Amino acid sequence: MATFQTSRGGDDPSALWSDFAAAVPQTDRGGDAPLRYPLAMKILVTGGAGYIGSITVTALEQAGHTPIVLDSLLKGRREFVRERIFYEGDIADRELVRRIVNEHPDLDCTIHMAARIVVPESVEQPYEYYRDNVAKSLELFDELRSLGKTRIVFSSSASVYDLVDDYEVDETSPLAPTSPYARTKRVMEMALEDISAGTDLRAVILRYFNPIGSDPDLTSGGYDREPSHVVGQLMLTAQGLKDAFLITGTGYPTRDGTGIRDYIHVWDLARAHVAAVERFDGILDAVGARSTIINLGTGEGVTVRELLAAFEEVYGASVPTREAPPRPGDAVGAYANVDKARDLLGWRSSLSLRDGIASSLDWGRKRNEILGFD
Ligand SMILES: NC(=O)c1ccc[n+]([C@@H]2O[C@H](COP(=O)([O-])OP(=O)(O)OC[C@H]3O[C@@H](n4cnc5c(N)ncnc54)[C@H](O)[C@@H]3O)[C@@H](O)[C@H]2O)c1
Repeated sequence: MATFQTSRGGDDPSALWSDFAAAVPQTDRGGDAPLRYPLAMKILVTGGAGYIGSITVTALEQAGHTPIVLDSLLKGRREFVRERIFYEGDIADRELVRRIVNEHPDLDCTIHMAARIVVPESVEQPYEYYRDNVAKSLELFDELRSLGKTRIVFSSSASVYDLVDDYEVDETSPLAPTSPYARTKRVMEMALEDISAGTDLRAVILRYFNPIGSDPDLTSGGYDREPSHVVGQLMLTAQGLKDAFLITGTGYPTRDGTGIRDYIHVWDLARAHVAAVERFDGILDAVGARSTIINLGTGEGVTVRELLAAFEEVYGASVPTREAPPRPGDAVGAYANVDKARDLLGWRSSLSLRDGIASSLDWGRKRNEILGFD
């Protein structure tokens, strides 16, 4: 199988990324919400064997915290758990959640990332999506609440937003989740708002935009053999595994007619979770509420043609393309207003689109040896 060569070149991409990681602060310690926990915290991360979860766990460790991973390995990878504290099981297994809390009574906060996440699959299997993303999350929250573990950071998605004229959405922008997957996320946002209002549970809800890349040391990343997301499609085409990269939708009212997204480096996303758990109480004090929603993006919209140009620059070669009509369910897109994240988390993205592409390419070259792919 062909391997990726990036314009970063060199034989040891991890060395490059280690330098790079050292240059990036964990959180910039600014922002309105004070740090409540300057010391090490213990954090339960559901879905911690998955793509974003495993990288968030790395960021928590690097900030001096102790993550505890709960994952059923429905999708996530054992290789990403490494030597970490790990409970293999379901988020709705109340006995297991009780055992985790018994064994870790000093648990400070839960980051709930475990979910089914594939949009087309959610159209075909709506029951499984509502059961796992909604019903099981409710069991988890109720059990945590009854055990006195009342701080929840929840992974939501920019897919809940409606289209707005200038494509920039803030947390008060209109909503129109269009797939069963997106609706499970919106239902859980509403459930968390209601549960927080009526019980002692509290929630910081993070709406992620479009994560790309790997962790700086190339230990975790995307693990689909045939990734369906746009950067994965570019990589498959560059590798010669697809004959052309399809630009689906060229008649949108954007600056070049193609869809717009906010591609955020997954390492930046992971660092935002460190800020969210460290500032949890201060965030909610600052907004004067028991739950709040925060966008996590870069604040910059990138069209498909702009992404393609950046990819070709980083990759160092052109990629064959073909124009096609939008696929069913395709949306023109959105990018994040990130003022609230800056003010409350003291966080902003610090890595560029090109960094994210280079990271994806480096991970694409490295991942076969970690995941045992041929
Ligand atoms: N990847 C994205 O583009 C994106 C964008 C917005 C939001 N999100 C959200 O971020 C979170 C993490 O996404 P990801 O991309 O890392 O996906 P992922 O599939 O890699 O990770 C999800 C993890 O949850 C685990 N899991 C699923 N159901 C479970 C259950 N019932 N009990 C225990 N573990 C279970 C899976 O095994 C997997 O490891 C999800 O909540 C997702 O909705 C992802």
